[in-house]
Amino acid sequence: VSINRSITVSVPLEPRSYQVQIGAGAIALLPAQLEAAVGAPAYAVVSDAGVSRAVGEPLHRALQSAGLRATLHVHAAGEQGKTRAAWSALTDELLAAALGRDGCVIAIGGGVTGDLAGFVAATYMRGIAHVLVPTTLLAMVDAAVGGKTGVDTDAGKNLVGAFHPPRFVCIDPALLATLPGPEYRAGLAEMVKHAAIADERYLREIEVAAPRLPGADADALAALIARSVEIKAQIVAADPFEEGVRAMLNFGHTLGHALEGQQQFRVRHGEAVSIGMVLAARIGEHLGVTRAGTAAVLRAVLESLQLPVALPPQVTIDALLPFAAFDKKARAGLTRYVLLERPGAVARNDGHWTFEVPADTVRVALGPSPPAGS
Ligand SMILES: NC(=O)c1ccc[n+]([C@@H]2O[C@H](COP(=O)([O-])OP(=O)(O)OC[C@H]3O[C@@H](n4cnc5c(N)ncnc54)[C@H](O)[C@@H]3O)[C@@H](O)[C@H]2O)c1
Ligand SMILES: [Zn+2]
Repeated sequence: VSINRSITVSVPLEPRSYQVQIGAGAIALLPAQLEAAVGAPAYAVVSDAGVSRAVGEPLHRALQSAGLRATLHVHAAGEQGKTRAAWSALTDELLAAALGRDGCVIAIGGGVTGDLAGFVAATYMRGIAHVLVPTTLLAMVDAAVGGKTGVDTDAGKNLVGAFHPPRFVCIDPALLATLPGPEYRAGLAEMVKHAAIADERYLREIEVAAPRLPGADADALAALIARSVEIKAQIVAADPFEEGVRAMLNFGHTLGHALEGQQQFRVRHGEAVSIGMVLAARIGEHLGVTRAGTAAVLRAVLESLQLPVALPPQVTIDALLPFAAFDKKARAGLTRYVLLERPGAVARNDGHWTFEVPADTVRVALGPSPPAGS
């Protein structure tokens, strides 16, 4: 088996650093890699009901053909499958399959599968190995890097979980061929976020590649994905437990999360973040923190990727702000925003990565622009 070009990115999460391998066709190398890097006596392949036939079953068969002991486990697809009930059911399945302490979980699917299977691995017999094979663009560039696992509760998303880095991550952009357009674009929004906070040149590369996406050849896509993985890996490694610099990954997420909440999650996370980034750039420009023209640069890139860049007409900023106040970055009742200094760089605020911006300021910054000439 050969893959054309493969890029390896290290995620230096000491003491458990791991590697992310990115390449079209990379999944064919997985059985050999598992033997070399994990060497478990048994593997549990976990996938969601929507993609198990396309990716879970073939991987299960490939492991068996390679002589590895493997079982296949399927959970309900979608966010409603990321629950404590699903955690409990999957854990019971692994116990019934007699997976031992030295066993390994392989999550193949989107971020839901990775978060759920990762959390099962984190807690199963006090923690066993797991490997991530992300199959959505969002999971490739975001969920698979950083070691966060968990499930949702009625009180909110991701409220129960653990930091549990995988042994390694296998990213095969060829798996994206079947991903629906809106899911694909949701992942592109997080790539734009990485570029916006860390790398202006990467931002231009995304914009140049945009007309060819999503039909882009898997090699070109692999290179773009690798840059996002690198950026997230660097930030995460500098702040493994989310106490400082990792906050910058929340650029666009204060109002993005608020929009998701206000719309009761009828808007995709990536779409909400797309809008949230443009609004945060406008707030930053209004405050004089962000270089003038930055919002326009972001808007152009996001529009070329067919992502939304403004609030839906029926949603006013006043309807949104109460939801922003409950964002997890909101401390002591004040809403905090990650602001850019310019495209490719986050603004620092006296040693911090967020700015408290009063609701009135946000209203003025995002209110209707004054008539020309006034
Ligand atoms: N752990 C982290 O750091 C982190 C970071 C970002 C997001 N997340 C989590 O990730 C989740 C969102 O991930 P997601 O957007 O991948 O959602 P998802 O896992 O629900 O996948 C979206 C849909 O795409 C389908 N799908 C997956 N791969 C496919 C493919 N190759 N072809 C066709 N269909 C495919 C799935 O069956 C599902 O219906 C959220 O729960 C979020 O909280 C976690
Ligand atoms: Zn996000």
